[in-house]
Amino acid sequence: ACAVATPPPPPPAQSDAARAGERGNGRDLVVLGVETSCDDTCVAILKSRRRNRDDWDLVGENENDKVEVLANQLASQFGIHAEYGGIVPRLAVRAHQDNLPQVLEKAFEEASMTWQNIDAIAVTRGPGLSPCLWAGLSTCCDAAQQYEIPLIDINHLEAHALMPRLTQGPQTLRFPFLTLICSGGHTMLMLVRGVRQYEVLGTTLDDAVGETFDKVARALRVEGHEGHLGAGLERLAAEGCAERGPAFRVPMENYGDTCNFSFSGLKSAATRAVKALEKRAQGGTLDSASADIAAAFQATAVKHLTRGTRRALAFLGHRVSRSAPRNIVRNFDRDVERRPATLRHELPSALVLSGGVASNEFLRAEMRKLASYFEDDLRLHHPPAALCTDNGVMVAYAALEILSDKRWLDDFARRDPTELQADPQWRFLD
Ligand code: KG4
Ligand code: ZN
Repeated sequence: ACAVATPPPPPPAQSDAARAGERGNGRDLVVLGVETSCDDTCVAILKSRRRNRDDWDLVGENENDKVEVLANQLASQFGIHAEYGGIVPRLAVRAHQDNLPQVLEKAFEEASMTWQNIDAIAVTRGPGLSPCLWAGLSTCCDAAQQYEIPLIDINHLEAHALMPRLTQGPQTLRFPFLTLICSGGHTMLMLVRGVRQYEVLGTTLDDAVGETFDKVARALRVEGHEGHLGAGLERLAAEGCAERGPAFRVPMENYGDTCNFSFSGLKSAATRAVKALEKRAQGGTLDSASADIAAAFQATAVKHLTRGTRRALAFLGHRVSRSAPRNIVRNFDRDVERRPATLRHELPSALVLSGGVASNEFLRAEMRKLASYFEDDLRLHHPPAALCTDNGVMVAYAALEILSDKRWLDDFARRDPTELQADPQWRFLD
């Protein structure tokens, strides 16, 4: 087991008078977001306008520009774990401990603020790696106590799910919407009915899609791009041709009555194909066939994701346009027949991609195509790449969405921050 992070001592406290003068000016709500659930140390500061102290007038009302990102800082651990087969918790927690004070300082500098300006601290409490979660949580807990700032615990998946409401504007992206969260740790189809109102329609039965991209990328000796192996694999795939690569089977084709996913079989098939290629190369460099394997793998993984999403849309009662390609209409009709009787019709207003893998251009293009086959002008939304992967903005934003309901605010103000515990398996979504 890994040691729990010991937080660095927070900066010295200021007098009550100084605190009262600067924080809570009655118009703005400033939230600091901290994310340390995995291998990136992220801090952001967001500002939202409110009318007065009792009326936290936040997102969801009128304008899209009510929320401002004042700071967005991140320290990547990509280089630290690169030589290992995955994230090493022992090293990750140490890096979070080392980096968090600096990342916080940079964020305060970028926003020209101090702890005195912060109205609420939002921190990821789960799911994630336990020691990593504690690194962020303990630091935030100390600051919350010392400066008497409410501490808001955020679910990492909820943060990914709500993030596109900030980038698209809450007026454009209205509840309910269907989100595919595809990240290093999760692959989940979720109907987002509102803040803290989620229904999971499908999830992975084994590996997550991002984890699978990472494993196959490692086998292919791909270098990371923008701090991610998956992005490196996407670049290699762009040089190859899926049809020339191995004919991988799309997973779970005969499990038509669920929207679940499975990636372990595809992962094994792809790594086997790489091994066979290596054997042929006899220890030399992998030739252009490696790009074809990457392309074929990516195409199959994306097909699996789009088919599950199509099924979820069919189950929810969305109608496919009769002018869509014949095979799409046929498969859609088959999906409709297999719809679980317990699921009621509930039309999502949009289709949303979020999580690290949502920065993949090929996935976006295929999902956009899928959305275009549906009636009622179904649109695809996703955050820009830098906000698809883990970041502090999504954590602070989730808190703003939660605080827009005053009941939650009262609830958080009454809570004792020291009672918060990291929850590596936090499952409040299903
Ligand atoms: O959301 P995220 O930053 O962390 C988790 O919550 O897990 O997602 C990281 C995952 C990694 O597996 C990374 O390789 C993958 O997202 N990823 C990509 C791309 N960019 C990041 N996978 C495929 N294509 C990309 N362009
Ligand atoms: Zn994530």
